[in-house]
Amino acid sequence: MYKLLKKDGRAKRAEVTTVHGTIQTPVFMNVGTAAAIKGAVSTDDLQQIKTQVELSNTYHLHVRPGDKLIKELGGLHKFMVWDKPILTDSGGFQVFSLAGLRKIKEEGVQFHSHVDGRKIFMGPEESMQIQSNLGSTIAMAFDECPPALADRNYVQPSVDRTTRWLERCKKEMQRLNSLEDTINKNQMLFGINQGAIFDDIRIDHAKRISEMDLDGYAVGGLAVGESHEEMYHILDVTVPHLPEDKPTYLMGVGTPANILEAVDRGVDFFDCVYPSRNGRHGHVYTNFCKLNLFNQKFERDMRPIEVGCQCPACRTYSRAYIRHLLKAKEMLGMRLCVLHNLYFYNTMMEEIRDAIDMGNYQNYKAEKLYRMEHGE
Ligand code: GUN
Ligand code: ZN
Repeated sequence: MYKLLKKDGRAKRAEVTTVHGTIQTPVFMNVGTAAAIKGAVSTDDLQQIKTQVELSNTYHLHVRPGDKLIKELGGLHKFMVWDKPILTDSGGFQVFSLAGLRKIKEEGVQFHSHVDGRKIFMGPEESMQIQSNLGSTIAMAFDECPPALADRNYVQPSVDRTTRWLERCKKEMQRLNSLEDTINKNQMLFGINQGAIFDDIRIDHAKRISEMDLDGYAVGGLAVGESHEEMYHILDVTVPHLPEDKPTYLMGVGTPANILEAVDRGVDFFDCVYPSRNGRHGHVYTNFCKLNLFNQKFERDMRPIEVGCQCPACRTYSRAYIRHLLKAKEMLGMRLCVLHNLYFYNTMMEEIRDAIDMGNYQNYKAEKLYRMEHGE
């Protein structure tokens, strides 16, 4: 259930009710590809850093440890000990980017496991069955994400196939949700808009999938090599054709600036590996700029990563200590940086929600962007 609470320009502030609790949007989902946030972050930690939704991947969990095993053990929530919402990506994107792909046919995709090389087939039905076995709160439709530079002779048939796949996903999800031993009989399904950087294909596809009355709609196939301006333009033309009274999810995006711009264009769900990946490399976000904690200048810096930050790293430790940990390759160094970065993103989303609530989004966005660009 999506309840639109407030609009400020095109920015939406909403509440999404699920069987695993209510999500306040705009929201940043924290990426735990294989049922863990990389960087030794536990689900206990997630409670402390304001995580609302955890995101895992169908493809990875199917390959290892196997979705059937996870179902046998009571589902993904019980397995990873996380009782709040989980969104699972469908496997489409990961198969195209990771696996020894790939034969794409009408039925689905044939590929090789990146773990042991074994041959695997995944189509819309298989993806829904796996996500049903995992029992996630929100399942994503099985789609093809065409390369950013693909020409329209490739993109149009690909998008048409993604639409047919979506119809099959919806049908299979309805069947699975009605079975006796299904873990989450209220599993939600989000469709995914594709069309590379072709306005007309994007718009036509958005209209077609909007008629299917799904629980939410994602814009996929962005942040795959096009410019930021092109991405914002695609959002400008596409989002108005998606239902306003449903979640709008921009997949795999992005930097804090990307998120601020996309919220301004009506997007309310996000996910991205940047905060965790950057954290693992000692790159940390602050309201004034990004710091590289490997830098010599932090050797004697006894301030926290960001003064005033209430994250588990900043409440206790200094830049100098974390720098030492990173240089000594102590796992704690990475962990603290990842915790800080996720807290930074989750806190920014909280600020975004407050700003929309107060009708102050334009000022908030301008000020935040200015500070992040102009440094300490
Ligand atoms: N993650 C980032 N982009 C995409 C996309 O286009 N499709 C899917 N399924 N996942 C994504
Ligand atoms: Zn911090």
